[in-house]
Amino acid sequence: MYGDHSGTPEQVWSHDAYADDGDADFLALIQADGRVEPRDAMPNAYRASLVRQIAQHAHSEIIGMQPEGNWISRAPSLKRKAILMAKVQDEAGHGLYLYAAAETLGVDRSELLDKLHTGRHKYSSIFNYPTLTWADMGAIGWLVDGAAIVNQVPITRCSYGPYARAMVRICKEESFHQRQGFEILHTLSNGSPAQHAMAQDAVDRWWWPSLMMFGPPDDASPNSERSMRWGIKRFSNDELRQRFVDMTVPQAQALGLTLPDPELAYDDTTGHWRTGAIDFTELFEVIAGNGPCNAARMAHRRGAHERGQWVRDAAAAYADKHRSATATGAVA
Ligand SMILES: [Fe+2]
Ligand SMILES: [Fe+2]
Repeated sequence: MYGDHSGTPEQVWSHDAYADDGDADFLALIQADGRVEPRDAMPNAYRASLVRQIAQHAHSEIIGMQPEGNWISRAPSLKRKAILMAKVQDEAGHGLYLYAAAETLGVDRSELLDKLHTGRHKYSSIFNYPTLTWADMGAIGWLVDGAAIVNQVPITRCSYGPYARAMVRICKEESFHQRQGFEILHTLSNGSPAQHAMAQDAVDRWWWPSLMMFGPPDDASPNSERSMRWGIKRFSNDELRQRFVDMTVPQAQALGLTLPDPELAYDDTTGHWRTGAIDFTELFEVIAGNGPCNAARMAHRRGAHERGQWVRDAAAAYADKHRSATATGAVA
């Protein structure tokens, strides 16, 4: 998913984490690493946890179209424009797969969108940062989609079948996104001094927010333990963050760009790259609605939804017509 904010204060489980753990069949299936399918019995809390996570993921995909949509009209060449449009369209598709996966749990898509539009559902805070230059398209693809891949690959093994299967295709597309971002930065980094500086500036601004996409540290993430017991989550926030750092540092070196962390160092004893302390107060501020673009993103989303009403009306009218024609035998 695009960032796990499961440890934020407003989303902490309100009831005992061990209550409602499901019947013996459910637990046996989970323990045998089987897949739970839509018609299977499942504990209410398992269902609610999945709806919340899949919806947050779906919302993040469609809100995530906005920062990059901002640059489609200003891409530096026709080829770059075509690639960026394909990438942004992929994100719309990811939203669709995920809303469809959430609907298999008995919720309605319009209800989920309503919760997003009224602020009762969250989306990843990374999309509340502005995209100031073309190099931001590179930094988002390389770092934000890169972090998304690290978060999402384990979800292909999630215990809930429809979510796991949706994630297989999404991950393939995310890996294209990550490479196109790397390629944009590689071109800029090896271009003129001004282009190199633009690439470095984008990396400086996106590095720390991308580390925060993995959510709060493990000791401040109360949802994680149960999600792991239920096979929804496979690795902790800190494990995934470490995996991302280890993957990304050599790529930064290949790009000829610096990561903005003077304490970043390779630890010979553990074989991992160690970062400086992450300032999570900023993450919580952005989650609380005080990020640079929160209000603009939500206003744009609500406006797009209102402007799309005629499309939903037309689709519903077509479905009704098809249904009544089928009922009267006019359509095979
Ligand atoms: Fe995506
Ligand atoms: Fe993506």
